[in-house]
Amino acid sequence: MGGQPILELRGVGKTFGGHAVLHDINLAVHAGEVVTLIGPSGSGKTTALRCMNFLEAYDRGEILIKGRLLGYSGPGRGAGDRDSAALIARVRRPLAMVFQQFNLWPHMTVLENVAAPLILGKRLPRQEARRRAAAALAQVGMGGKAGAWPGRLSGGQQQRVGIARALALEPELLLLDEPTSALDPERVEEVLEVIRALAQKGITMVMATHEMSFAAHISTHVVFMADGAIVEQGAPLRLFRRPASGRLKTFLAPWLKRPLQPDEPETGAPGHRQR
Ligand SMILES: Nc1ncnc2c1ncn2[C@@H]1O[C@H](COP(=O)(O)OP(=O)(O)OP(=O)(O)O)[C@@H](O)[C@H]1O
Ligand SMILES: [Mg+2]
Repeated sequence: MGGQPILELRGVGKTFGGHAVLHDINLAVHAGEVVTLIGPSGSGKTTALRCMNFLEAYDRGEILIKGRLLGYSGPGRGAGDRDSAALIARVRRPLAMVFQQFNLWPHMTVLENVAAPLILGKRLPRQEARRRAAAALAQVGMGGKAGAWPGRLSGGQQQRVGIARALALEPELLLLDEPTSALDPERVEEVLEVIRALAQKGITMVMATHEMSFAAHISTHVVFMADGAIVEQGAPLRLFRRPASGRLKTFLAPWLKRPLQPDEPETGAPGHRQR
């Protein structure tokens, strides 16, 4: 895909207390793409997402948001080389993040939860913030719960509010960290449905997920990580049906026998369709 990527990682690395948890991550995300990060627990998916937003400071390489270097102005990558919080906030403005644990404020109504970042962060007038919040809630099918308290909602509903809160910021790119993994199994589908609808609308996303068939359906690009590095990346059917590395084959083994596309036979050989 051509044009300037919204988000680009070049040789990104991250160390926690001398232990390297990300190595040489290279990735470009263009408008309209849905990129999913898959990989075993501890492979670095969350850390990569948090670095993309500078919630975590990367310490090697470059992260560019619409061509602007995130977090640093010079070549240094130490704690003393970081940009001011205000500058970082400006550069990352095109991004918004949806967290695994929703992080809703319990003492605010659903509408206030979605409007608060607009009032406090974006300094929108209260009226305008509430209008935008209501529109975002409608987008995730939560318009009827604007006056409810988060504690009274199911996990699936809370996560839909979490997604609305990110959408209300009108981001150019949405980061989602395992948005369904904290949910009861019967609540997963309603949240996946909301994310699927956003993908169909062309909202650009980077999402860590353990929902393999969902990833196969909605992704334009899949990134398989292990031990803090990208082992393989590419089109979903290529990765899921013709994994090149032993590590990806092992990781996918539990899913390989299941259909990834609705028109694919249960036990179809990779890349083949029965007619
Ligand atoms: N704040 C931290 N301090 C020290 N080590 C950390 C910190 N955060 C993450 N790590 C380590 O970084 C590695 C990558 O963790 P990360 O949470 O990014 O993995 P993940 O792929 O998101 O896993 P999961 O699928 O379980 O969510 C792990 O070894 C983890 O222990
Ligand atoms: Mg994680």
